[in-house]
Amino acid sequence: MFHLFVFCSLCFWHLVVFADTDAVKMVTEGDSVTLESGVTEIQTGDVITWTFGRPETQIALINKDDGIFSTSLGDAVGFRDRLQLDQKTGSLTITNTRTTDSGLYNVTIKRTNTQTTNRFSVTVYARLSVPVISSNSSQCSSSSSSSQQNCSLVCSVVNVGHVTLSWYKENSLLSSISVSDLSISLSLPLEVEYQDKNTYSCVLNNSFTNQTQPLDITQLCQTCAGPEPLKVLIYAAAAVSLLLLAAVGILCIFKRHSKTDQEDHTRNEELTYADPTFYKRKAQKSEVKQEEDVVYAGVVIRS
Ligand SMILES: *[C@@H]1O[C@H](CO)[C@@H](O)[C@H](O)[C@H]1NC(C)=O
Ligand SMILES: *[C@@H]1O[C@H](CO)[C@@H](O)[C@H](O)[C@H]1NC(C)=O
Ligand SMILES: *[C@@H]1O[C@H](CO)[C@@H](O)[C@H](O)[C@H]1NC(C)=O
Ligand SMILES: *[C@@H]1O[C@H](CO)[C@@H](O)[C@H](O)[C@H]1NC(C)=O
Ligand SMILES: *[C@@H]1O[C@H](CO)[C@@H](O)[C@H](O)[C@H]1NC(C)=O
Repeated sequence: MFHLFVFCSLCFWHLVVFADTDAVKMVTEGDSVTLESGVTEIQTGDVITWTFGRPETQIALINKDDGIFSTSLGDAVGFRDRLQLDQKTGSLTITNTRTTDSGLYNVTIKRTNTQTTNRFSVTVYARLSVPVISSNSSQCSSSSSSSQQNCSLVCSVVNVGHVTLSWYKENSLLSSISVSDLSISLSLPLEVEYQDKNTYSCVLNNSFTNQTQPLDITQLCQTCAGPEPLKVLIYAAAAVSLLLLAAVGILCIFKRHSKTDQEDHTRNEELTYADPTFYKRKAQKSEVKQEEDVVYAGVVIRS
């Protein structure tokens, strides 16, 4: 388009030409972006001025006659050491871009009797981090039949702005959440079945670029379902040993109980025999003798 204007500017004297639309440039933070001057080769007498922002601030200047190729004017507005001028074409390259470099840039070329201005709309997008998928472990250890339940996952990103976070199943969108604020954290849940063989991915995007994290179900959901057979074995072993212990314990207690019962019984007998009323019933002499023997026997045992 610019070449068309240059062509026209050769047709008319004292012509001032404006590009009617901005050239749109999009770049990811940290990358370089080049704004073309539209000149194929700088000629003697050309004066090329680059400006940025509103109000316009001059950031670079070329004056071929005076041998000026200066980018030092940009230092004051944050471009120190990040501007490069092409010596042949006068194109401007911004290196190591920052989101604050976003805005309007003009290049004005003064050549003998013409002046041409080209405009650029530059947007520097924040570099997106890869979203993180983690298992929502709170639901993992709950039930014995957890292999039948769903695996609960969450995809998250921190410190993002003007982005969308989405879950995809194969290539179809399952759910998404968007933010326009700057510097907030986002998380989006997903439930899948443990034996699900579909391909899931979590995607973070702005209007320029995206970052994708594929979901590895076998890895993230294994923590709950995987060690299940082993757990069952361990539980079974523990249960069996507990039962054995309990059985042994009960046996011991039972035995001890029957022993003390017997002892109590003999003592009761002794008490009965020691009862003074007993001696009043002297009619049955033979019996008494026998029972006295028993008493003495008991005493012997005790001592
Ligand atoms: C540079 O761009 C601004 C904003 O688009 C515009 O208002 C201004 O006229 C341009 N400057 C020149 C010299 O064309
Ligand atoms: C796990 O899921 C529950 C309910 O779905 C939710 O309240 C909780 O915040 C989740 N935990 C994490 C770490 O996302
Ligand atoms: C398990 O997840 C599927 C989708 O993957 C859903 O349709 C179903 O309702 C979920 N079941 C339970 C018990 O959460
Ligand atoms: C992310 O991409 C979708 C299309 O895939 C788009 O509709 C959405 O606006 C994008 N998000 C942002 C913040 O630009
Ligand atoms: C992510 O960006 C690539 C191009 O960089 C595009 O091909 C792809 O469709 C995008 N993915 C999504 C889910 O928007």
